[in-house]
Amino acid sequence: MRQVLKVQISDNKEYLIDISDSNFAKFNQEMFEYTKGQKRLVVMSKKVYKLYAKDLNFDDDEIYIFPDGEKEKNYQNYLKIINKAVELGLTRKDVIIAVGGGVVGDIAGFAASTYMRGIDFIQIPTTLLSAVDSSVGGKTAIDLPNAKNIIGTFYQPKKVFININFLQTLDQKQYLSGLGEVLKYAFIEESCNYNVPLFLFEFLTLGCEKIMEREPLTLIRLIEYCLNLKIAVVNQDEKEGGLRKILNLGHTLGHALETITKYKKYTHGEAVIYGIFFMLDFAYKKEYIKYAYYKSSMDLLDKYGFHPLKKVYPTEKIINIMKKDKKANADKITFIVPCDKKNVKEISLTPIDVEYALNEQIKSVS
Ligand code: GLY
Repeated sequence: MRQVLKVQISDNKEYLIDISDSNFAKFNQEMFEYTKGQKRLVVMSKKVYKLYAKDLNFDDDEIYIFPDGEKEKNYQNYLKIINKAVELGLTRKDVIIAVGGGVVGDIAGFAASTYMRGIDFIQIPTTLLSAVDSSVGGKTAIDLPNAKNIIGTFYQPKKVFININFLQTLDQKQYLSGLGEVLKYAFIEESCNYNVPLFLFEFLTLGCEKIMEREPLTLIRLIEYCLNLKIAVVNQDEKEGGLRKILNLGHTLGHALETITKYKKYTHGEAVIYGIFFMLDFAYKKEYIKYAYYKSSMDLLDKYGFHPLKKVYPTEKIINIMKKDKKANADKITFIVPCDKKNVKEISLTPIDVEYALNEQIKSVS
């Protein structure tokens, strides 16, 4: 089974996303064919290296094994990747390939976008999160200790190869993290302006069991639905001037939770889900959404085993982190908030309003 999707940002900026369940022999034949005649630097997650290095069949010399974890997405490791590219003698005609999750894709993409002012870049996402979100759309980045993704570029890959076989060995925590981003799309579908209704909310409700079992055809369909929505958004607004901000539903609080816990306690998707709970609660209390939609949203999250955050963090610290977020403007903090069934809008709140809303949510879960 194979699905091919196309990102078409402009007439001369387009690329394909290949989603398949091919066996690895076929998969690497296609990849090797695609990069024929190019020198390759393959930045591969350590976990993926242990599980799949043999199947993927790259030369050991061309592989840079990347340690796993958000804390590794820093400038020291970025420079090590660049040094490896120099050591391998990569030129402007060559290619960097990311094989791994969001962290590997972000840092390898940043290296590809800056090495010799930009060389070809290929994404091979191996987690659900990177398949449905970070491998597509061209965001690349590294972090500073207190500011996630603060250094980065918009740099589109030349191709994205998604092979769902990688997802079968993903640990449950990482799989659930990917589902965090998947569920996000259910709440924003109508705002993406995709040309036909996908009914993702309903698909996620009815297909929960098969999705949790990682049934291959269901996975391909799920990834295809999410990417159709993401592509629609990126095609309309590559550089997040407006519409693309809707992909940040749940991310303002999510990033703050990741930062306050030094990227150690919550996976990205889990933190985003806490952010979505906060926004649904806020939207319902402000009467942006009706009870029936609020309730069915809560039921959907519950079906996947997600519950609102119980742990309380100092509100002042959370707000200080939010103020440093790229999404903050002047004295206000911006959030994407549900405003109707499957629709969201951007709002800016003062720190005092945010403090009030956070305290209200803490009260409602305690
Ligand atoms: N992950 C959000 C975006 O790509 O814009």
